[in-house]
Amino acid sequence: MPDTLTVIDNRTTKQYELEISSGSIRASDLRQIKLSEDDFGLMSYDPAFSNTASCTSAITYLDGEKGILRYRGYPIEQLAERSTFLEVAYLLLYGELPTKVQLTSWTHNIMHHTMLHENAKKFMEGFHYDAHPMGMFVSTIGALSTFYRDAKNLQDRETRMLQAFRLIAKTPTVASYAYRNSLGLPYVYPDNTLSYIGNFLNMMYRMAEPKYQPDPILERALDVLFILHADHEQNCSTNAMRNIGSSNADPYVSCAGAAAALYGPLHGGANESVLRMLNEIESINKVPDYVKRVKKGEMRLMGFGHRVYKNYDPRAKIIKETAHQVFETTGKNPLIDIALELERIALEDDYFVDRKLYPNVDFYSGIIYEAMEFPTDIFTVLFAIPRTAGWIAQWLEMIEDEDTRIARPRQIYTGAEERDFVPLEER
Ligand code: ACO
Repeated sequence: MPDTLTVIDNRTTKQYELEISSGSIRASDLRQIKLSEDDFGLMSYDPAFSNTASCTSAITYLDGEKGILRYRGYPIEQLAERSTFLEVAYLLLYGELPTKVQLTSWTHNIMHHTMLHENAKKFMEGFHYDAHPMGMFVSTIGALSTFYRDAKNLQDRETRMLQAFRLIAKTPTVASYAYRNSLGLPYVYPDNTLSYIGNFLNMMYRMAEPKYQPDPILERALDVLFILHADHEQNCSTNAMRNIGSSNADPYVSCAGAAAALYGPLHGGANESVLRMLNEIESINKVPDYVKRVKKGEMRLMGFGHRVYKNYDPRAKIIKETAHQVFETTGKNPLIDIALELERIALEDDYFVDRKLYPNVDFYSGIIYEAMEFPTDIFTVLFAIPRTAGWIAQWLEMIEDEDTRIARPRQIYTGAEERDFVPLEER
């Protein structure tokens, strides 16, 4: 059987053979289907890219029907149990797990780029005390473009990798400065003798003690959360990263654009919205009423549903287990009971069952962050730090892909026909 698709255009009765490769046709092959020589040719209309592959990628595999997520072939469950975030970031970028020597050198490279230029620090001081940390994060990551002018040399792999180190290294510093700024606390410089996660906690929480010692349980829990958030193939923010990067913009401004996309409540901003929702529900006995209002279309159940997962999000499963481990150290966050009840009721209800709406990665993460005393405003930043590794891996892959051209979708024009300008006095 040939790997082709036969299309008959009933407008003209002409027949076309389109090649099928990797379960797809090339959208540009549709252009040969024309009414006449000067016809532009057929396009496909897909406003949310729900059935359009925009690239080939060897980084993350996801099967939403079966609830499978793998980075470079490794199941997310195994990585969450046995790996660390920095090791996973290496895997995403280089395609293989590092050897001992490679991991040592990678860790050294990352941990020696954690410092922010003092002017970048001053730039952050300029924000108002109640600035949203995601706004600060997006702006500061974009501003780093002005500090690293060499980043524009995209043709050189060594230069590209240097920006990768810098971005992965500096996002925790930017995030913690955003937090300290909001509280009027002095910034804490990185301590590169700690782990990547330990140092982040140090920059967030260190007060007067000479050396900050992170709680190992909380450090590991955050490591697991970072692993789970590191990449998720062509989601809204990754698509933004590739889209901006396709114009040969430098990785800092591309990353700022990706972070801006993540900020939205339908994407990474959902973790913050979930917490606000659970606080609004207040107690378990108000859950049924809340679910009724969701079903009436008054609001969405935040942290539920996913464009791709039509099954339980495997990340949500791991986060739920992690929550209980964290509570053993921090004490139980009472919001977990409301969340569990919401999940129980929703998963039994036809509205959610018919639409295949399950908890996603954001449903339980906020409860852990709150138990670890992260303020709600910073939750999406906690998503952006590890996702930076994914954005960069995808960006590097895009730059090295021979098929890459500037992203430039088509439109279906629905506006006015040509008409003559009307002078103001005649309108
Ligand atoms: N609560 C209630 N109903 C929902 C929800 C929800 N959370 N999500 C989808 N639905 C309903 C829609 O109303 C729609 O119903 P209808 O067919 O009767 O109109 C149906 O399910 C399909 O919804 P779409 O909006 O078409 O689904 P889409 O794939 O476009 O949206 C999205 C996916 C944006 C994630 C959506 O499920 C949502 O808004 N969820 C809440 C926000 C959230 O948690 N976002 C984080 C996603 S994970 C991440 O980005 C990291």
